Amino acid sequence: MPATVVVGTQWGDEGKGKLTDLLSKEMDVVVRYQGGHNAGHRIVVDGEAFALQLIPSGILYPGVTPVIGNGVVVDPSVLLQEIDTLEAKGVNTSKLMVSGNAHLIMPYHQEIDRVTERYLGKSALGTTKRGIGPTYADKATRVGLRVQDLMDEKIFRQKLEVVLKEKNPLLAKVYNRLPFNANEIADFYLGELAPRITPMVGDTVGFLHNELDAGKNLLLEGAQATFLDLDHGTYPFVTSSNPVAGGACTGSGLGPRDLTSIVGIAKAYVTRVGAGPFTTEVFDDLAQILVDRGHEYGTNTGRMRRCGWFDAVMARQAVRLNSLTEIALTKLDVLDSFDTIKVCVAYEANGERFTYPPYHQSVLHDAIPLYEEFKGWNTDITHATSADELPAAAQAYVEFLAEQIGVPIRVVGVGPGREQFVTMPSA
Ligand code: GDP
Ligand code: IMO
Ligand code: MG
Repeated sequence: MPATVVVGTQWGDEGKGKLTDLLSKEMDVVVRYQGGHNAGHRIVVDGEAFALQLIPSGILYPGVTPVIGNGVVVDPSVLLQEIDTLEAKGVNTSKLMVSGNAHLIMPYHQEIDRVTERYLGKSALGTTKRGIGPTYADKATRVGLRVQDLMDEKIFRQKLEVVLKEKNPLLAKVYNRLPFNANEIADFYLGELAPRITPMVGDTVGFLHNELDAGKNLLLEGAQATFLDLDHGTYPFVTSSNPVAGGACTGSGLGPRDLTSIVGIAKAYVTRVGAGPFTTEVFDDLAQILVDRGHEYGTNTGRMRRCGWFDAVMARQAVRLNSLTEIALTKLDVLDSFDTIKVCVAYEANGERFTYPPYHQSVLHDAIPLYEEFKGWNTDITHATSADELPAAAQAYVEFLAEQIGVPIRVVGVGPGREQFVTMPSA
């Protein structure tokens, strides 16, 4: 009855999609437990790319049942589009299950996301403008609409009526926007979307526990990452859910003791999209090399990602926050052409040395990264199929990271393709 969690250890886009796909070969069920279509998980199979937003990355294996858990926020239009795109590519999506407790992203959530970002001006967070924060906010203030409300017209219309009594004046008076019409939204959601969504809705909690009891293999796929976590990330430059492994329980209905292994995904360097502190960030030519070699543009939003050196301080904290049992290191091949590679082993701030992030964000803002330097391997590793095919300098880099982080690195990515990874000898 094993349940494995895949969780990002940095600021997202570590390659969770690729790793989830890789592990899904052995899985019966793959569950998304938080976030929404702010996620973009890219998988490349035989040269064909799939960019998943809401649907679990296990979908490409016909034996896998993909589940959208209660912790996810669902834009039903986006979900249907994603289903249609996958079906057009020959992927069977008929087993997809959606939790009735998942919250619905509504048109006013997206509008509020857009206008608040505009209103914040220079302090904007750089959200994906998908309505994620406003939907989770309504969930917390208990005025959200849930997927199961699509199955009860009266309730849906009633709730919408009530919530728009608050949203419309806010949009009109504070943000100078046009009001939303409850009937128009209800007609579209209930008339156009519900008939296709409701057949997928079910008791996902019951299903997952029954599968566990039957000895099936479950994988819980995190979106975003540890340092975008609402509680543990670089607040306020975070997302509005809990990507950390604890969120896998609340967002799926599994209990903490159901989780058997927790795999942290880390890039061999670090990227971030949107605003917020980034201690090891690099700029100018160096950043451009990482962007170009790593194709560091958002999977869905197309935004250029900020880049920096590997940060062991963050990685150590990610081990603690998620109870990581191992790390999968991705994109090692992106470092192939560097003469020198740096790893941040500690921070220095106010004359103090930190091996874990300082809790006070003002101190974090002043932190200076302390680096150890490595000689690069200057060799193309994209064709490596086993650890001993990696150049000694690349092996030394991976070993050093594992030592610094304190958990074994078992899988190393050497290219975007499904088959482009090597397994490290057991540490
Ligand atoms: P996710 O959000 O964590 O699933 O990551 P994304 O899919 O947004 O971004 C990771 C990007 O890196 C995608 O374009 C992947 O195809 C690609 N990728 C994943 N692993 C590797 C790797 O080991 N090497 C290279 N070069 N690309 C990788
Ligand atoms: P995956 O799953 C990278 C970032 C946004 C912004 C902040 C808040 O592909 O790793 P939001 O729209 O969630 O309110 O935006 O979080 N962000 C991501 N960055 N990868 C993601 O997902 C992200 N999802 C949100 O850029 O800084
Ligand atoms: Mg992504």
